[in-house]
Amino acid sequence: MTDWPEIEKKYYMRTFEKVRVPIVLERGKGARVWDDKDKEYLDFVAGWAVDCLGHASPVVTNALTKQAKKIIHTSNQFYTIPQLQLAELLVKNSCLDRVFFANSGLEANEGAVKLARRYGKLKLNGAYEVITAIGSFHGRSLALTAATGQESFHTPYLPMPEGFINVKYNDIEAMKAATTAKTAAVMLELIEAESGVIVPDAEYLKKVRQWCDQKGILLILDEIQTGICRLGALFGYQLYGIEPDVITIAKGLAGGVPIGAVMAKEHASVFVPGDHGGTFGGNPLACAVGYAVMTHILEKDIAGNVRKVGQYLMEGLERLKKKYSFITDVRGKGLLIAVEFNSEIGQNVLMACLENGLLVNKVKPNAIRLMPPLIIGNKDVDEAVGILDKVFSAVVI
Ligand SMILES: Cc1ncc(COP(=O)(O)O)c(C=O)c1O
Repeated sequence: MTDWPEIEKKYYMRTFEKVRVPIVLERGKGARVWDDKDKEYLDFVAGWAVDCLGHASPVVTNALTKQAKKIIHTSNQFYTIPQLQLAELLVKNSCLDRVFFANSGLEANEGAVKLARRYGKLKLNGAYEVITAIGSFHGRSLALTAATGQESFHTPYLPMPEGFINVKYNDIEAMKAATTAKTAAVMLELIEAESGVIVPDAEYLKKVRQWCDQKGILLILDEIQTGICRLGALFGYQLYGIEPDVITIAKGLAGGVPIGAVMAKEHASVFVPGDHGGTFGGNPLACAVGYAVMTHILEKDIAGNVRKVGQYLMEGLERLKKKYSFITDVRGKGLLIAVEFNSEIGQNVLMACLENGLLVNKVKPNAIRLMPPLIIGNKDVDEAVGILDKVFSAVVI
């Protein structure tokens, strides 16, 4: 049998060494995946919160094959129907007025930052700074590495591009103190997902909204991980009683096919012809799948399922927290949940889950993150909680 990890070692750049686990995934169906030895796993990673309808969903595969047979790519020199259908659907189901499609979360955020700079130039006397939060993660371009409020991401690439101020998350006074005449926008994740699923206080986002209104600056919400029903509403902001000026989405939008989008309210849609673009962004293939996924999500009330099953999962994890004193916290919303431990056992827990047929993500040395497909049911939750129980019962602290 081919030793694929050995081949990786020889030919692939080493950047994923910290996160790769020693299995080779070959196929999937629903919330299950199988490796090259035909071992089955329940997938609570879902491609890092991407595979919202599970694996090999007919919604995705039918749209993909149907569109691939028609036309895959044309360039934005021409109008294509899936791009405009998806744009219309997104706008009609959000508080935003316009869309620009990209290919990833990073690209969507890059568009949002450029939009903020254009806004600053046109409406705020040349303001260009974007305030982001410590602990945030916004992507890996140079600009978004600077936006990302984690020093470990900056250090290998110093000097960072200027124009990004990282302030304490969940602290409105820190944001106020950092706001100057140079500030064009605030950019925040609704929940700091990559930092360990850090949920803000209920009032924080409302206060940020008020502050942005008071200062006339843009509020950009990075919903790349929290959008597309992950938290139990189509967009996370809908759960927090605020309306952003700009949001970015990606991950679940086309159920696993690469896509990203920046959406803005009319007053913030300040790009003029030539300001921004891209060869692949908005291509008919990704957009046709996005349109099929979004239509399905809305028709089948996937957000409702997330609320129901997410609550059930939370209750199961709370029971485990009561049972095992080394679990210090269970937190999250919908189907984005972290379990935190009192020591750095995340990797051991991950490996033991793997052994027992459950895929989880080690989000921090002392925490795992669960972000399963949004179509799971209570039976899947029972199975996952059962495996976690078994794994935790063997933990020696
Ligand atoms: C909140 C958030 N923003 C941006 C990104 C970057 O998205 P991508 O990896 O598609 O570039 C991620 C990826 O995990 C994310 O979680």
